[in-house]
Amino acid sequence: MYNISIIAGDGIGREVMEAAEYLLDNINLEFKFRYGEAGYDCYQKNGTTLPEETIKIAKKSDAVLFGANTSTPGQPSPIINLRKELDTYANLRPIKSYKGVKSLYDDVDILIVRENTEGLYSQKEYEREDSVIAERIITKKASERISEIAFKQCIDLEKNKVTCVHKSNVLKKTDGVFKESFYKIGEKYPEIEKNDFYVDAAAMYMVSQPQEYQVIVASNLFGDILSDEGAGLVGGLGLAPSGNIGDKHGLFEPVHGSAPDIAGRNIANPCSMILSVAMMLDYLKEFEISNNVKDAVAKTLAKGEVKTPDLGGNASTMEMAKAIVGEM
Ligand code: NAI
Ligand code: MG
Repeated sequence: MYNISIIAGDGIGREVMEAAEYLLDNINLEFKFRYGEAGYDCYQKNGTTLPEETIKIAKKSDAVLFGANTSTPGQPSPIINLRKELDTYANLRPIKSYKGVKSLYDDVDILIVRENTEGLYSQKEYEREDSVIAERIITKKASERISEIAFKQCIDLEKNKVTCVHKSNVLKKTDGVFKESFYKIGEKYPEIEKNDFYVDAAAMYMVSQPQEYQVIVASNLFGDILSDEGAGLVGGLGLAPSGNIGDKHGLFEPVHGSAPDIAGRNIANPCSMILSVAMMLDYLKEFEISNNVKDAVAKTLAKGEVKTPDLGGNASTMEMAKAIVGEM
């Protein structure tokens, strides 16, 4: 039996979480769910975007599922803080093309490994005279730790190349440390090919020759931007899952946000959330069931009979979730 925290959040976070729970209710494993609040609606109700109670529930569980939150003006981001509270320092974001989904290429298979604890996500901004300043700290410790994860993931996925993305021509000191740490840790992995690009060129190659990428390691903001770009490459944010991994905790969530433009209509694509559930099952070492879930998503997409509007269909979130469960 696994204790799972469910933090649905705002907007389509709640709609795709319903799909995730439906899937978990229909697989052959036992789960105990505990529910936590977070996000904009939570702030309206409780005066905080991330209540202590939610952190407590998350810390006590075997894994956490998070939907999405709407940002609250003047308030810290609950998901950034939750990742920090759980010290889930690596954000794993697979980008894959699927048969049956309109996409620029049909052979994309990239893992983006995003540093999750520092960089421009410090949420520390202050004023000095007539300037506003954002703090961007890069440490050797976090840079080495994230490179280590990237190389290990490369081996686990039976890939053989890791690309470091940075901007060390301009951010000479901070991204200098990030790049140096990558090559230093890389010495332990002589069998793995290594290269690096400036982020602007890396973004172009993502569109022009994504097949050149296998595993990408990047600092927090660059990893975030490249993962939405990657999602766009293979059919949109409805197909982009992620896992936040640390030494003690795992937190799984779609790459997308609360999508206010489509929220409340039950038309969000649940695949990114369901594929995040599959990543959670891998984390729990339930590999066989995880593979079943991934295969069922791929089959549903390939058949193309039931698909949400972002994929060109007219199915609802739950209709698509039911079709996926039906394939299992
Ligand atoms: P978004 O990711 O919510 O949406 C971007 C676009 O993708 C929208 O057109 C949306 O309709 C579409 N989209 C996203 N997920 C989809 C799905 N599952 N199915 C179909 N279409 C989907 O980003 P946006 O609009 O920039 O931000 C909205 C809110 O979400 C903001 O308040 C933002 O701060 C927050 N946000 C939260 C995140 C999180 O909770 N981890 C991540 C990104 C944004
Ligand atoms: Mg993002």
